Amino acid sequence: MANEVVDHGRRRFLTAATAVVGGVGIVAAAVPFLKSWEPSARAKAAGAPVIADISKIELGQKVDFAWRGLPVFVVNRTPEQLAILPSLDPRLSDPNSTVDQQPDYIKGPDRSIKPEWLVMIGICTHLGCVPEMWPAIKPEPFDPDWKGGFFCPCHKSRYDLSGRVFKGVPAPKNMVIPPYNFADETHIQIGVDPKGAG
Ligand code: FES
Repeated sequence: MANEVVDHGRRRFLTAATAVVGGVGIVAAAVPFLKSWEPSARAKAAGAPVIADISKIELGQKVDFAWRGLPVFVVNRTPEQLAILPSLDPRLSDPNSTVDQQPDYIKGPDRSIKPEWLVMIGICTHLGCVPEMWPAIKPEPFDPDWKGGFFCPCHKSRYDLSGRVFKGVPAPKNMVIPPYNFADETHIQIGVDPKGAG
């Protein structure tokens, strides 16, 4: 009787030990799988696509993502900000984006696939500083007629909220729009053209 109790206990222990070992085995097997699924650091640096989760980016907010070692600005533009863009054309160097700084499917004053979402490499086309977003439509120290956009603190270049460069500043071109597509409603794939484009 006493032996029976001991045996039961030992059986329970062995069962538990097997389950733990099994669990470790599953975890150990899962890690290499995940590693092989994710692009390696070298692949990312060489230009592997990056998925940007935009579900938490609030209206008017900018979030930066890294792609090819570059900052990619993703901005959720407001209807008011979008409505102003066409009125800025006379003040801009290349309002129609004729210089090759974006994929062919990026057109119009919003320079985007979905107007509210700006996806842009946040590098000034003068000497490569990272411009700051000044989104408010109000006079700023660097422009009394400011309608919201990007200001480069290095040498005072100004861009609108589509990255179109103003006339009379050191930067010669609009900021670059990378290839991208909407993987779904809340995810942007940076580095890959939409299906059928590009
Ligand atoms: S690097 Fe931006 S203005 Fe010179």
